[in-house]
Formats: sequence, structure tokens, C-alpha cells
Amino acid sequence: MRAMVYRGPYKVRVENKEIPRIEHPNDAVVRVTMGAICGSDLHLYHGMMPDTRIGHTFGHEFIGVVHEVGSSVQNLAVGDRVMVPFNIFCGSCWYCARGLYSNCHNVNANATAVGAIYGYSHTCGGYDGGQSEFVRVPFADVGPTIIPDWMSDEDAVMLTDACPTGYFGAQLGDIAEGDSVVVFGAGPVGLFAAKSAWLMGAGRVVVIDHLEYRLEKAREFAHAETFNFTDYPDIVVEMKKQTDHLGFDVAIDAVGAEADGNLLMHVTSAKLKLQGGSPIALNWAIDSVRKGATVSVVGAYGPIFSAVKFGDALNKGLTIRGNQCPVKRQWPRLFEHVRNGHLKPSELVTHRFPLEHIAEGYHVFSAKLDGIIKPLVIPSAA
Ligand SMILES: NC(=O)c1ccc[n+]([C@@H]2O[C@H](COP(=O)([O-])OP(=O)(O)OC[C@H]3O[C@@H](n4cnc5c(N)ncnc54)[C@H](O)[C@@H]3O)[C@@H](O)[C@H]2O)c1
Ligand SMILES: [Zn+2]
Ligand SMILES: [Zn+2]
Repeated sequence: MRAMVYRGPYKVRVENKEIPRIEHPNDAVVRVTMGAICGSDLHLYHGMMPDTRIGHTFGHEFIGVVHEVGSSVQNLAVGDRVMVPFNIFCGSCWYCARGLYSNCHNVNANATAVGAIYGYSHTCGGYDGGQSEFVRVPFADVGPTIIPDWMSDEDAVMLTDACPTGYFGAQLGDIAEGDSVVVFGAGPVGLFAAKSAWLMGAGRVVVIDHLEYRLEKAREFAHAETFNFTDYPDIVVEMKKQTDHLGFDVAIDAVGAEADGNLLMHVTSAKLKLQGGSPIALNWAIDSVRKGATVSVVGAYGPIFSAVKFGDALNKGLTIRGNQCPVKRQWPRLFEHVRNGHLKPSELVTHRFPLEHIAEGYHVFSAKLDGIIKPLVIPSAA
């Protein structure tokens, strides 16, 4: 089969690999019909994630057709059209029993630190991902769901990560009716977070980025007010001005470790790897909220130290919440929103790259060229 493989920072290509086999009775093998590249994949592509091995196949957003099932699989049959959440989880450990699927304790040798994610380095379990023609799906009775007839493929693939993660970001913000919400990052995750904030009763939604075309999307898709942080000497001061110097009720960090906006932080993280990422968006979030506010963090950070303004967060009495999104927990409510037309996740899809051209897909997405918001990946056998 053809699969994307990592060859080192900024180098990916498509190679032949063995079609994965059933390794456990509860595995399935899925023929991928549509995948995507996530902002998280860019952290791998840029060499930011520890233990990203040469030859690893990325891709944690994919849908497909069941190609083979292990002997104990009961919920899926060959030929079923399935959507697969980005988390791999067992469904029965202490965490899974509480719906904390992204924190599953049974699927990753590093489980005390992080759960398992398809195609997300050996730090997250070393499972090959879905930017490929076929993928092995462990715990096949637990994660995948048959795609409802009324759902389009592009909506389904967007529901395997980007859309639920944005929704989850708004949920972690504990938005109360009428709250003012500021979202950092107008990528797919931030745009979904902004849209979701309204669904949860926000009274005001602001989105911050420096890419004008994405801010335009924030106005159009998420009906948000927008601010380009490069237009202000200090975006935090502007956020204070915007709120009678009180600060927002809720901030959502949908940027993560590779934030722009502070050269020193960028150099000490992305270039020198002295910290787990530039905490600049997180620090702006901490500084932009009022005392007693909630800061929700869905942007991804590496496990090692980052220069986060923790003292300010403490003294302001902030609640900081973050996690990888437990995707399947979000599905029932999100399926309703999609079915009744409140949300159309595929509206953020801007590019569709054949798997054979995935290197171009990574380059365009990484460099934010050509108005890109969300790139899909279409395997040749689809
Ligand atoms: N927690 C989870 O479960 C989960 C799931 C998916 C993605 N993520 C993470 O969410 C983040 C966003 O993902 P995405 O797919 O939207 O990525 P993306 O790369 O498309 O978007 C990131 C956006 O942040 C903007 N940005 C950079 N610096 C900024 C700053 N200082 N302030 C405001 N905006 C800034 C960029 O211009 C870009 O538009 C990534 O870190 C990704 O790893 C987390
Ligand atoms: Zn992702
Ligand atoms: Zn579990």
C-alpha cells in the first residue's frame, strides 16, 4: 500500500508499506477513503515532538471502509463505512469508564503522561496513522462509529478531531450565559471553538490571529469580532481596553506550542528546543482574562518546561483546563448540531490533496499558503 512516511523535520514522502494485519482479535483494518492534516501534525513535521521516528506514518483524522476484522470484533463488519476518533482507547479502564478517552491507561507505554493517538509518534503509542491507504484500528469495537447515512464524508472526517476539539475547547471554558470569550488562533480548532462558544451561550466572541484570511473566516463562519495581533503594539492591552480594563470571562488557547508573536519564545522553543513550546498565546490568554476567569487550553504543548506565567495565573485565581479532546464523547451532541444544520464542519475544508502529493500538502499548510484552512488527504485507492 502507499503511505505517507516521515523522513525527518520538514521531510515527508509517500512510500510502499505492508498493508497492516490484524494483530489482536479486537483489531480492524480500515481502508482509508479520506484523511486530513491537522495543525498537530505540523508539530511533528517541524520536529517538535519527541520520539518521532523515521518511517512513521502520520494521520489521526480519517474515515474509511472496514477491510478486515479480528475474531472478537462484534460491532463492525467488513464493508462498513466508519469514522474513527483520533484517540485510541480501550473503553474499560478507570479513565475510559469516566469518559476520559484521551487519557486511556491501556494503550500507550507512556500512558502516565499521555493517551494514544494514531500517527502521533512513539510518545503517543507509536501507532501508524491514516495518511495512508490502510490503517490498523485497535479496540475496533470501542472507537469507530458507522457513519450515519445523512452525514457527508467531509463532515465525518472533520468530526474525527478538528470540530470536536474546538467544541471541547469551548466546553473547557465553562462558558456561562452572556460571557465574553476570546479565542487565540483562527485555525480549524480556533474557528470551531469560536462557533461553539455561541452554541454554549456566549455573549461576545473575539478571535485573534495574524493571518487576515483566517480572521475573515472567523467573521464569516464563526460570526466573531476579530483582531490581528500585528496591528497592536500589545494585544493584551487592547483586550483590556475592549473589556473596560476588566478582562474577558473566558479565554481559549487554540494555538499551542508554535505560537508566533514573540521572537525570543520562538527561538528558545522551535529553534533551540529549550522549552516545550512558545507559551506566548497561553500567556496572552492568561493576561487577557479577568480575575477568577477560566483559561481553556486545547493548543498542543510538549511535555517539558515552558515559560508560562503561572504566578499571574495563580494570583488572578484562574482556572486553567486543558486536555486532548475525548472525541467520541463529543459525538452525540455534535451529530445533532450537524444534522439540524447548526454546524457544517466541512465549511472549513479548503484543500484536497491526493495522498501522492502529501508533501505539497504539508508544505502549503505549514507555510499557510494559498488561503489554506483545512487540508484533506485522498488516498489513491479511495
Ligand atoms: N487538544 C487536542 O485534542 C487537539 C486536537 C487538535 C489540535 N490541537 C492543537 O490545536 C492547535 C491548533 O490546531 P489547528 O489545526 O487549528 O492549527 P493551525 O496551525 O491551522 O492554526 C493555528 C493558528 O494559530 C495562529 N497563531 C500563531 N500564533 C498565534 C498567536 N500568538 N496568537 C493567536 N494566533 C496565533 C496561526 O496563525 C494559525 O492560524 C495546535 O496546537 C494543535 O496541535 C489540539
Ligand atoms: Zn489533531
Ligand atoms: Zn481506557
